[in-house]
Amino acid sequence: MQPRHFTSLLDLTSAELHALILRAMELKRHRDPDYQPLKGKVLAMIFEKSSTRTRISFEAGMAQFGGTALFLSPRDTQLGRGEPLEDSAKVISSMVDCIMLRTHKHETVTTFAKHSRVPVINGLTDLKHPCQLLADMQTYFEFRGDIAGKTVAWIGDGNNMCHSYINAARQFGFKLNIACPVDYRPLQSIVDPAGDRIAFFNTPEQAAHQADLVVTDVWASMGQEEEQKKREFVFKDFQVNAATMAAAKPDALFMHCLPAHRGEEVTADVIDGPQSVVFPEAENRLHAQKALLEFLICR
Ligand code: CP
Ligand code: NVA
Repeated sequence: MQPRHFTSLLDLTSAELHALILRAMELKRHRDPDYQPLKGKVLAMIFEKSSTRTRISFEAGMAQFGGTALFLSPRDTQLGRGEPLEDSAKVISSMVDCIMLRTHKHETVTTFAKHSRVPVINGLTDLKHPCQLLADMQTYFEFRGDIAGKTVAWIGDGNNMCHSYINAARQFGFKLNIACPVDYRPLQSIVDPAGDRIAFFNTPEQAAHQADLVVTDVWASMGQEEEQKKREFVFKDFQVNAATMAAAKPDALFMHCLPAHRGEEVTADVIDGPQSVVFPEAENRLHAQKALLEFLICR
């Protein structure tokens, strides 16, 4: 049987994604230490970028399900010395039951998937961060119910998180209002297939008008550290602050995948305020990925 992969939210059907969210909520509500569906199973985790949440949630999730997670960095493996991706994928997938990669180029993940005998999970690339969206959707469902028909405002960089929000708008049926500096808009090739679910606005207030959920992310992603100063200037009017939240619905939620920079993309009063759900959102990485691992490995 061909393995299923999770390189993008578009790898699963909308029905499968909805089922995953419901399963994640169930796993969170009823934690049964005797339920060990991944006993004896091994997840290889390849990290070419830093991580707190992704690493801990996958590692803890595997342990709670009776399995094991291996942390692999390019520094300590032959991947860092130029062993071909195709060979690495064949070798690693002959020894483990699932592979998660966090890397720069999205093609690294898709190449791995093509040559792997086991499921491959995208733990973040420069292009997409689908695992984060599972947690974000779970969090919205928990606090407010179904997100279909709702309005989400994305403020800031048209980055990997923004791309995954666009795909989520397609799969979960919400409208996504985006406020980005013109030169930092998401890729047209990701925007176009989403059709009129996506709309662009010039200011955060316009994008957040009557929104049910307001989301942002760092102005400089991993790998863009040298652009930090320039980006602080370009993005200074694309901050989520009290005025942005005032434009949204009174019961709007605020989300951020974390880590956050208070005073840059979001003010402290918003991220630490009553509408913010960033910590349940972070915790849900664990529950959502347990549901994902169960779906991919126990088929
Ligand atoms: N949100 C997220 O992916 O966090 P980490 O970079 O800490 O894994
Ligand atoms: N856009 C950010 C997300 C971090 C979880 C980055 O790629 O660094």
